[in-house]
Amino acid sequence: MQIAHTISEMKTLRSKCTGPVSFVPTMGYLHDGHLELVRRAKKDNPFAVVSIFVNPTQFAPNEDFKTYPRDIDRDLAMLETVKTDIVFIPSPEEMYPEGCNTWVDVEGITATLEGRSRPKHFRGVTTVCNKLFNIVEADSTYFGQKDAQQALVIQKMVADLNMNLKIIVVPTVREKDGLAMSSRNTYLTAEERPSAPVLYKSLQLASGMYEKGERDARKIVAAMTQLISTVPAAKIDYICVSDINTLQDVDTIKGKVVISMAVKLGKPRLIDNIILG
Ligand code: PAJ
Repeated sequence: MQIAHTISEMKTLRSKCTGPVSFVPTMGYLHDGHLELVRRAKKDNPFAVVSIFVNPTQFAPNEDFKTYPRDIDRDLAMLETVKTDIVFIPSPEEMYPEGCNTWVDVEGITATLEGRSRPKHFRGVTTVCNKLFNIVEADSTYFGQKDAQQALVIQKMVADLNMNLKIIVVPTVREKDGLAMSSRNTYLTAEERPSAPVLYKSLQLASGMYEKGERDARKIVAAMTQLISTVPAAKIDYICVSDINTLQDVDTIKGKVVISMAVKLGKPRLIDNIILG
């Protein structure tokens, strides 16, 4: 496994790859969800590049950029186990030198869900991913279903900008009790942790209602809200049933929809989703 800290080191290592290259962008503090993306990347391609970069531009001033968990040695040891070829670990100065002043902004689908609660978040994500895609020059890139809106926004950016990159979306990896793995789960206290699976339980409840024929989005959201409200510490930011392509709210479920949610449980704001239809 080779490590690049600068863009020019990354480009040199990339130029030595003799076959299809896959790319998994991350912010580090890795868990099995991240490793699953790398396993998939390595299964499909001879070379896998992983980036570790806590991207400052996707955090609002009141968010956790400074305290976001970081442990590069642990991350590198984990990446070795899944046979990562190249790890790109740039500094903020390397990615955003003085005077860097260009943004990539996908309109429309970034205005709902996470975008409503975190207004400039996706502009930071699309800008850094665009830069990383240009630096790594991979043939394919792997994203998690866990961040469903992010995966859709990246797919839209790649299509709209005619980028030559295949995107593979990998199912959400969960703890045994259903909690979606996330670097931010580390913020949960020992008292909060046992309640955290309530997010997934509410999604399963929604899925059960759908299976039984319920198509009224309001009734599904109401049942989910009621279940989550049994956890006094849980503060719901949003629960939405949205069209899978436009991410606009739907009243009646007809085609494919994504049910997504953000819930603050103590310090962390947890997100999760399922696709129905
Ligand atoms: P990060 O939160 O580190 O996630 C990196 C990738 O891992 C994303 O594609 C995310 O969806 C995926 N992932 C996270 N938890 C997962 C889980 N439980 N199961 C499956 N996949 C999971 O998302 C980001 O970083 C950043 O926004 C980034 C794209 C790197 C841009 O800065």
